[in-house]
Amino acid sequence: MFILRRIFIFSPLLASFITAYPVFEAGFNDETIAKVRSRLLESAHASWERGTAAEALTEFSWPTLSVFDPSAVPPPNQLAGDQFPSDVVKIASETVNAKPQNSLALIGNDGAVGDPASIGVAVLLANWTRPEASDNSYSQAAGQQLDYLLNVAPKSNTGAISHRADEVQLWADFVYMAPPFIAYFGAMQGGDGGSALLQIAYDQCRLYRDNLRDDSGLWRHITLGSWQDSTHWATGNGWAAAGMLRVLETITHSDYASQFVDQQRDLTNWVQEIIDAVWAHQHDSGTLLNTLDDPNSFPDSSSTALLASVTYRLAVITNDFTRLDAASKALHLIETKVDNDGWLQDTVDPYTFNSATKAGDHSPEGQSFVLLLYSAWRDFAKRISGQL
Ligand SMILES: *[C@@H]1O[C@H](CO)[C@@H](O)[C@H](O)[C@H]1NC(C)=O
Repeated sequence: MFILRRIFIFSPLLASFITAYPVFEAGFNDETIAKVRSRLLESAHASWERGTAAEALTEFSWPTLSVFDPSAVPPPNQLAGDQFPSDVVKIASETVNAKPQNSLALIGNDGAVGDPASIGVAVLLANWTRPEASDNSYSQAAGQQLDYLLNVAPKSNTGAISHRADEVQLWADFVYMAPPFIAYFGAMQGGDGGSALLQIAYDQCRLYRDNLRDDSGLWRHITLGSWQDSTHWATGNGWAAAGMLRVLETITHSDYASQFVDQQRDLTNWVQEIIDAVWAHQHDSGTLLNTLDDPNSFPDSSSTALLASVTYRLAVITNDFTRLDAASKALHLIETKVDNDGWLQDTVDPYTFNSATKAGDHSPEGQSFVLLLYSAWRDFAKRISGQL
């Protein structure tokens, strides 16, 4: 209601926006987007791919359970029949069933600290909505994963939790993998312990930004440790912006929002800062380059989709529509980049970071980013149409 009223106040801007970018024009059709989802389920195997898939499936099929919904934190205790998020819970249950006894992290010997934690949000959702009240396997697994992040994983001297298990090394990717889980855990747990976790999730975003952000507002990919990647990797900027956005929304929709006003303001500004810096490098076709500010880099539809999704979500929060021009251009490009089988084309190879995916290969995370973009655009259009 508050947001709708704000939009009403800015209605001249809204009117000109709608004229320029009709939000109801044909987007992805249902058949195409269903294929994108099927290809995602077939291809997502690595820890972070499954955690990102769980989030994308939640936003796509179960939007009232995603942290972007004002009533989603915490979700209902029981979800009946077709309300039950079966595809998300499947990722959680397969993970918990395969978890070795001697591993605190959700996945044993992953090498990464952050990546297994990305599945933690789905595990918490599975715990909260489990049909068998006596089943504490999800709760225990989530608690151990949290313990690993907070008390076992290596940390930098300023307190940033390392993205890697064997040395202290900070990757922009971490911001999407761990802080949203820490925040969601805190929002579910509640009380002093819960609000302490919300603060930790915020602090990790702050520490990562302190270490990776350049004056341009763009983030470098990897710092500290035995090697660095100082390029402004487009997907890394997407991970950072999208992760901070989820922490922001988890705090905003928790019972503790009023105690975290400054943190919400900072997170909003930090997401906006990346969004502004990134779209300044958008090409006429709508694409971003894999290394955002290197003209010799190649077009990458993965990061273009992820950052467009963040832009639609952020506009709903701030009512600032100035970057929707860029997001809309990106959306239209991405629609043309999904082939007849539902694969996103022209992605960066997510395992090298610096080369394009070879013909016949695909990016599982790119499949998730298309679902995230579709969901963000759909939810934005719903907000706007509710006003008209
Ligand atoms: C799991 O759900 C129960 C409520 O059914 C709750 O009491 C418990 O705190 C949850 N565990 C976690 C780790 O959130």
